[in-house]
Parts: sequence; structure tokens; C-alpha cells
Amino acid sequence: MAIEIKRLAAGIGAEIAGVDLTRRVSDADMEAIKQAWRDHLILLFRGQQLTHEQHIEFSRRFGDLDDHDAIPKFRDPQYHEILPVTNQEIDGRKQPVGRQWHSDLSTTLRPARASLLRCEVIPPVGGDTMFANMYLAYDTLSEKMKEIIDDLWGIHDMTVAKASQGRDLSEVRKRNPPVAQPVVRVHPETGRKALYVSEMTTTGIVGMSDEEARPILEYLFRHSVRPEFTYRHRWQVHDMIAWDNRCAMHLALDDYDINVPRKLYRTTLLGEASGYIVQSNAA
Ligand code: SIN
Repeated sequence: MAIEIKRLAAGIGAEIAGVDLTRRVSDADMEAIKQAWRDHLILLFRGQQLTHEQHIEFSRRFGDLDDHDAIPKFRDPQYHEILPVTNQEIDGRKQPVGRQWHSDLSTTLRPARASLLRCEVIPPVGGDTMFANMYLAYDTLSEKMKEIIDDLWGIHDMTVAKASQGRDLSEVRKRNPPVAQPVVRVHPETGRKALYVSEMTTTGIVGMSDEEARPILEYLFRHSVRPEFTYRHRWQVHDMIAWDNRCAMHLALDDYDINVPRKLYRTTLLGEASGYIVQSNAA
């Protein structure tokens, strides 16, 4: 059966039909999938009832996988490459993740290249995920704004997400100090520029006071998720979505009853080294 590529939205995303991920995908089909991924940033595969092994094996065709060593209590105890994404209680507390726009692991010196998320349990209503095209976000800025931000570095902090507020994260912060990442990243495969700031993690701009940086960041956060750059995915069981974190952001919507189970599983592709550690916003 030939692979079919169907766009999901004008701004981002394509569905790949005609492929069975429970079997080894041919090299020719893998090339077509990789090209579609470069072109569309996020890919949807429907009806893929995968085991953890099959999920890992397919993900490995794109590169090395993270073993989620930074968050050992959240990873699958047997398959460390699998990160359960669930609203069930862990350590007596619900741990919904990704409730603000972000790019996975931008707060580390090896931000995730890509993530592949497969759906096993979804609430009867809601539990959607949104994606935004950060190439478009950059391309649609004025030339003057591009000049201003092209060489800036944003400060990314793992401990500032809204969902973490009210928790003592001093130890986490000690182990994961804020890092500076380019505000505009050049994608290593396409050579295109993408905006690389997000409301969940970016707290400042290197060399600027908060008063200076805040209005710029607030503008970029709003601009980068204009509806025409986005796709909203309504999950079906056995969907798998792959996204490229270097040019797309995502958001797990708070649009469902948190007491109703939602369970997905993620693999994370290790990315290129990027950024450096900063000690404070004044760095
Ligand atoms: C994530 O941020 O990796 C999870 C997205 C989701 O739960 O929809």
C-alpha cells in the first residue's frame, strides 16, 4: 500500500496514511516519511496499536532516544525510553504536563529533537493537543523585528511552569539551572529559521532587564500561536503524533475533567547540543 500524505491544517501538520507501524517500515517509505516531517513539522499516524517495543523501534529509525534519566520517577520502569504522559496520580499528586506552550527540553543543553506521542486512553470530551509552526511565526515578523531578535538569547527555566507553582523546586533548580537558547534557531536539516521562545519556560533575554525583555517576549508568545500557525488535534485511541521540537511548539489543553483518565506514551529523540548555563536574568 502506498503512503498517502494528507494535510491537517494550512499552517502545520499532515496525516500519513497507508503505513502500518507494527511492521518494519521500508527504507523508501521511511525516506518519504522523513521528507513529509521536514515539510509539515508534525505527522499524524492513525490506528496504530503499538506495543512499547514497536513504538521504541519505530522512533529509533529517526535517531537516538532519550532514556528520560532526568526524570526517573516518571519514565516507564521497564522501558526507560517510554515516558507515560498521564493525569493519574504519581507520588500522591496529579502531574498533568505541558499545559502551556513549549518545546520539549528547551531548558536543557540538549533540547529534544522530536517527540512521538501515542494515545491509549482519552477522555470522552477534550484532552486535545495543539501545535504551532515556529517557522511561520518567524517568517511573518517584520524585517526590523527579525533584525532585533536574530542574535538574542532567551533564558529558559525548568521551574517556572504554571503547573509547578506552589511546589518547592529549589533542588530541581540546583540540578537544572536556567539555560540560554537562541531566540531564533536555525533548523539543522532545512536551514530555515524558527522562533524558539515559549511561555512555559522563557523568562528573560540575556543582557536585558526584565522591563526590557518582558514586552518583547510577551509579544513573541502571542504572535507565535496565532490561529493560522496552529493545528488542534482531537485524539483518537491509537493515534500517534510525531512533532519536531526545533520548529514546532505544542500545548496540552486543559479542556477536560482532570478526574477522567487520559493516558499517552511518549518517546523523545535526543537533539543537538544547544545553549549554555546562565546564573540569572542579568547574565
Ligand atoms: C507533552 O507536552 O509532551 C504532552 C502533550 C500532551 O499531553 O498532549
